[in-house]
Amino acid sequence: MEKIVALCKRRGFIFQSSEIYGGLNGFWDYGPLGCELKRNIKDAWWRDVVQRRDDVVGLEATIIMHPSIWKASGHVDSFTDPMVDCKTCKKRFRADQLCEELGLKLESVETPTGKQFKLPAGAKCTACGSDQLTEPRSFNLMFKTFIGPVEDVSNVAYLRPETAQAIFAQFQNVLSCARQKVPFGIAQIGKAFRNEINPRNFTFRSREFEQMELEFFIKPGTDAQWHEYWVKERMKWYESIGLPASKLKPYVYKKEELAHYASACVDVYFDFPFGSQELEGIAARGNFDLSQHQKHSGKSMEYFDDETKEKYLPHVVEPSAGVDRIALALLCNAYYEEWAPTSESAGSAPIPAEHGKQPPAGFESRVVMRFAPRIAPVKVAVFPLLKNKPALVEKAKEVFHLLRSQFVSFYDEAGNIGRRYRRQDEAGTPFCVTIDFDTLGEKGPEMKDTVTLRDRDTLKQERVSIKELPARIAEAVK
Ligand code: GLY
Repeated sequence: MEKIVALCKRRGFIFQSSEIYGGLNGFWDYGPLGCELKRNIKDAWWRDVVQRRDDVVGLEATIIMHPSIWKASGHVDSFTDPMVDCKTCKKRFRADQLCEELGLKLESVETPTGKQFKLPAGAKCTACGSDQLTEPRSFNLMFKTFIGPVEDVSNVAYLRPETAQAIFAQFQNVLSCARQKVPFGIAQIGKAFRNEINPRNFTFRSREFEQMELEFFIKPGTDAQWHEYWVKERMKWYESIGLPASKLKPYVYKKEELAHYASACVDVYFDFPFGSQELEGIAARGNFDLSQHQKHSGKSMEYFDDETKEKYLPHVVEPSAGVDRIALALLCNAYYEEWAPTSESAGSAPIPAEHGKQPPAGFESRVVMRFAPRIAPVKVAVFPLLKNKPALVEKAKEVFHLLRSQFVSFYDEAGNIGRRYRRQDEAGTPFCVTIDFDTLGEKGPEMKDTVTLRDRDTLKQERVSIKELPARIAEAVK
C-alpha cells in the first residue's frame, strides 16, 4: 500500500485533502489522473446500468434533503456506530473494529430504544494497552448542518449518508413521467457523507465519498430471482472494468446477519493489499423503504399494475457501489513492478521484477499501471522522436489533435523516448504513438504517414498508418 499511496501522490491520482494545512482525516482529493479514472468508472457504470438498458432511468437529487427523509429511513434513530474511548491515552475507537483487532466479539443486546453494546472481557486499548475503556456509546454517522441563518433544532438538516433515499422519495414522480412498468429501476450517482469514527486504509473508508446506486423495483414475490440476476450482472461488470474474477468474491449474508426487512444480501469483496473488503452490496430490501416513506409522508407509494389490475408496494433490489473503493481496487490491481528492456525497439518483453534484486544487463526497472484500456485515465500519448526537429514536432501535434478529438490524449516531447514511455507506464496509458523520420517519408514513400504504436503491457511496437489509428484505439477502449 505504501508504494501505491506514494505513486498516487507523485503521479496525481490522489492527494490528501487540504494538505497544505496538515490534511483532513478521512477526506481525499483526486488529481489530474485520478479524476479521469473516477470519471471513467462512473461513465462505465452509467452506460451499462442506465443508458444501455431499457428498464433503468436516472435521477440526480440534492445532497441536502428534507430531514423527515432520514427519520423515515431509520437513519436518524439507528445509523450509528458504537464508539469507545481510552481513558488513559484518550484515543477513540469504533468498538467493533477494536474487538476485531483483539480477536474478540463485541456483545450486543436488543433494547426498546435500539441495540446496546457491551465490551467483552479482555478488551483493552490497542494503542497503549490500558484496560480503562469507556462503555460503547452510539454515535450517529450523519453530518449535521442548519438550513438558513438560525442554528436551532427546527432548522437541522443532514448531508445525505446514501444516495438511495432520494430515489424512494421521488419514486412517484419518476413513475409518472418515465413510461416504465415494474420491473424497472432508478439509478443515481453522487456524493454521500458519513462521519466515520475511524477513517482508514487510504481512501477505503472516507468521510466524503461517491456512490453509484440502483433501486430496481419489482413485483413482490420475485425478490429471489431478481436478486440473483443482479448479483450475476454486477460480478460480470467488475470483470468488464478489469478486476479479475480471482480477486472478487461474493459474500452471502447469513440469515441472522440480514436487516429485519431484507430477504437476501450479497457483498462483492475485492482482495486489497490490506485484506478482502467490500466494494458493493446487493440487497433485497422488500418494500421497507417505500412503506416507511408512505407512512411518514402520508402519500401513497403504491404502484398500479395494468395487467393484473392490482395495487401494491413494489419490492426492491438495491445494488449499491462505492466509486472511490472501486478506484482504489483498480489502482491496487493495476500496480506492477517489472524489468523492461532499456531500449524498447530491441523487442524483448518485460519480465516481473524480483524483490530486492537489480535488473539484468539491458533491462531497467519500471512501474506500470495495467488499467483496462476502457478505464485508463489517458488512452494515448503522442511523442515526436526529437523535440528539436520542427517537422517531427509539427507532425506529432497534427496526430495529437486528430486523436484528442476522440480520446483523452497526452502530448509529450520532453526527455528521451525511454523516459517518456516510463512516465506513461506509471500513468497507465495503454498506447504510445511515436512520430519519427519514417513518418515524414524520409526512408521512402511506403513508410510516409505511418507511426509506431507501442503497447504498454507487451512493449510490442507496430507500424500503423495515421489514418488507421483512431479506429485501432477506439476498438481497444470501447
Ligand atoms: N444504500 C446502501 C448504502 O448506502 O450502503
